[in-house]
Amino acid sequence: MASDIERLLLTPAQIADACARLGGEIGSRLSGRDVTAVCILKGSSLFFADLMRCVDMPVAFDFVRASSYGSAAESSGDVSVSHGGVCVCGKTVLLVEDIVDTGRTISKVKSHMLDLGAKEVFVAALLDKPSRRVADFSADFVGFEIPDEFVVGYGLDYNEKYRNLPYIGILKRNAYEK
Ligand code: IMP
Ligand code: MG
Repeated sequence: MASDIERLLLTPAQIADACARLGGEIGSRLSGRDVTAVCILKGSSLFFADLMRCVDMPVAFDFVRASSYGSAAESSGDVSVSHGGVCVCGKTVLLVEDIVDTGRTISKVKSHMLDLGAKEVFVAALLDKPSRRVADFSADFVGFEIPDEFVVGYGLDYNEKYRNLPYIGILKRNAYEK
């Protein structure tokens, strides 16, 4: 797997530090509210698990699935959200997302949560690629701003692979431009 990685971007220690910092920020900002943290599957699964252990307040969990990519390395803009009876009515929702790229996916999921009756929606994103933004969106809690490179690992995939890497790395172009 490592031979497909061009360059290491974030080490496990840097990711753990970011989770601790974001967990603290989330606790200070949202404490006292009735919070449901919603993991956007599949990419956010590892980040969600680590981040939640750094949030020192009672939080409910829920999970939604958002798909836009197919097997391409570019967002299609055609985002589908599926939720197995997620119950967020009247709650403060904290959406947990791996990466905000064009912003289309997270904008769609956020409006979906409001449609389901959420009182308010906050977003924690591990990675942000602001240079690629198309939708008018900014996350409330951001781990790292990164350059316009295609990254994998720590939950992020290319064509469903590399999610299990313990670090985040830039994928070699020849791994997705074949
Ligand atoms: P957006 O809708 O363009 O903001 O894309 C967001 C979604 O695309 C994320 O939830 C990821 O699943 C995926 N994505 C965007 N950039 C990358 C990347 O560099 N590596 C892996 N997945 C990415
Ligand atoms: Mg994702």
